Formats: sequence, structure tokens, C-alpha cells
Amino acid sequence: ERALVLLDKLERERGLTFSEYAELIDAETEALRKEAAKRAVRLRKQIYGDQVFTRGLIEFTSYCKNDCHYCGLQRSNAEAERYRLSEEDILLCCKEGYRLGFRTFVLQGGEDPYFNDDRLVRIVRAIKAQHPDCAITLSIGERTHESYQRLFDAGAERYLLRHETADEAHYRKLHPAELSLRHRLDCLEDLKRIGYQVGCGFMVGSPGQTVETLAEDFHFIQEFKPAMCGIGPFIPQHATVFRDEKQGDLHQTLFLLSLLRILQPNLLLPATTALGTIHPLGREMGIQAGANVVMPNLSPVEVRKKYLLYDNKICTGDESAACRSCLNRRMESIGYRLTETRGDVKPLPSPS
Ligand code: 5AD
Ligand code: FES
Repeated sequence: ERALVLLDKLERERGLTFSEYAELIDAETEALRKEAAKRAVRLRKQIYGDQVFTRGLIEFTSYCKNDCHYCGLQRSNAEAERYRLSEEDILLCCKEGYRLGFRTFVLQGGEDPYFNDDRLVRIVRAIKAQHPDCAITLSIGERTHESYQRLFDAGAERYLLRHETADEAHYRKLHPAELSLRHRLDCLEDLKRIGYQVGCGFMVGSPGQTVETLAEDFHFIQEFKPAMCGIGPFIPQHATVFRDEKQGDLHQTLFLLSLLRILQPNLLLPATTALGTIHPLGREMGIQAGANVVMPNLSPVEVRKKYLLYDNKICTGDESAACRSCLNRRMESIGYRLTETRGDVKPLPSPS
């Protein structure tokens, strides 16, 4: 019926109109989810085979100058324990990660002014000198053009900056007044122009999200054509104003992962830690819905419990080696393999 017509069109034309997206997202049923997942897996296999890319996530600072309403690192969360890793700690994480088979390191942190351009450039250069065959992804929020350019010139080649929502009013509901969707989108454009492989993304089920705001997200992604897109369920954090909101839906997250894969078959699409947090097999289900990346934690165990974007986060007590082998097993249990490659984005083949 109608939903299948839209699914066909999404696959064939790699795009829908705004109202078609809203209609398709709203038409979610178990049967439609299955059909979307089947197509998503087929499209992904044509490009990436049975390989799942892996990135070592290093959460290097829990200080943040922002006050995003959903996030446990928000500056007004007085109970959050703050930490910074030293350059030496970060290099040790990378060394351990390299030994475990990681060839991409994601440096993620709050927006922490301590890590100015000089400090970050030093760190990026040092990682590149230690591991010239590895890719560095930064996930450190909104910065100036000059800053993005200097970090790129130092050797960072990928950047994750979730847009969070492409709807103006929804963006204002999730963020304090000093942050704007306009500026966030300008940053994303800037990063792309500089030459980064750019990732955007959003939470599923964040307070105020509707099929219309999701349709705007899809429309934005269709136009922006990111290399990566991070989506995971919203999970309430007890110290934030959204503490009593309900968490994002597992099945909707999986459905949206499939639709993103169909929209842009070469996307790097992680099965996120948040997905693994709301269901014990969430990441496996994410891969089976069309995701192709996992990002286990490489942060030192001592700091993991201090990087609590949301409640009940998994892997906060596990050594990096344990996470790597745990994920290996999990991926093998569903017929996939973790690769020891950088896992760069592949070119988009022409539609079949
Ligand atoms: N639940 C789920 N995801 C969250 N993030 C921040 N807070 C939460 C939460 N409560 C996500 C945001 C951010 C990324 C680093 O983590 O989308 O971009
Ligand atoms: Fe961390 Fe399973 S991935 S323990």
C-alpha cells in the first residue's frame, strides 16, 4: 500500500518530500519495520559487506560550558563530577586502542574552554605521530572557523556534531537561549567546506519531537548528505529538567536507522551506546536494522562513571579490552565481523 510506495520512492530517488517523510514515519508498523530493515540490510551489504566498522571512543573531558536541557554534562548539573584527561592519558588510551585493533579514535568531550586550539592541535599532532595509519574524529561541539581549520590542518579528518533537531522551535525547547539551530547548521556547513567527513544526527524521542520534526531531520540529512549520522534514543538523566520525560522508543529508533540507510546507502551509521542501554541487544538489533558502526569506550575505567550524558549508561565498569571482545562476540553472534581498518566512508553507488 501507500507506505510501500513511499519506501520504494525513498530507495529509488533517495529522497522524499517533507510531507512524505512525515507520512512514512507515521506509518510505522511491525511489518513495515521488517520490510525497511530487509531493504536496509541489502543496501548496506552491497557497499560494506558483513563488515562492521569500529571506533574507539575517548571521552576526554566532562567539563562543559553549555546547558543543554537533555544532557547530564550541562554546566548547571552541580552533582556531575568533572574530569579532564591529560595529553599523556589520551595517548595511552590510543596506544591501548591500537593494540586492540582500533584504527579510528573519536575524541569526544563537553565544550571545555580549557582545551583551546593550541592544546588540541598538540594532541591531534601527537596522536597522528604515534599512529599515522589511524583516523581521528573530533566530537567537541561548536567552534570557530579558524579552530576547525587548524584542527583539520593538524590531522583530524572527521567531525561529529549532531544537529539534534532540524526544527527551529524544537531546537529551542532542547537548548538554552544562547544556542541556536542556525549557528549549529553553519558549523556543519563550515566543517564540510573545510574537508572533514562530517557526521550529524539526533536523539529519537527527545521531548517535543514529532513526526513533523523528524521529517525535517530527514529532509535536512537528504540535503546535507553527511558521511555519518548518529542517532540513538533519548534517555532521561536524573539531574536534568527532562528527568521525568519518557525515553525514546527502541522500535522507532530501529525503524529510523533503516530509513536512513535506504535514503543514503553509504552512510556510516552507528549502533549507539544509548541503543545498547535501553535494550541488552540494542546494538545487535541496530546492526540488523542497517547500522554498520559500533563505538566502544576506550576511556580509562576510573573516569567512565563521570561521563553520564544519560542514566544507566552501559560499559561504565568495563576495561577497554573487555568491551572490544564483548562487541566482537556480539557481532559474530549475528554473523558480522569487526574490522581492524580506519573504516572510511565508501562512495555512493548509482541507484539500481
Ligand atoms: N539521552 C540520549 N542521548 C543524549 N545525548 C546527550 N544527552 C542525551 C540523553 N539524555 C547525545 C546528544 C549529543 C551526544 C553526544 O549525546 O545527541 O550530541
Ligand atoms: Fe562494553 Fe560489552 S561493549 S562490556
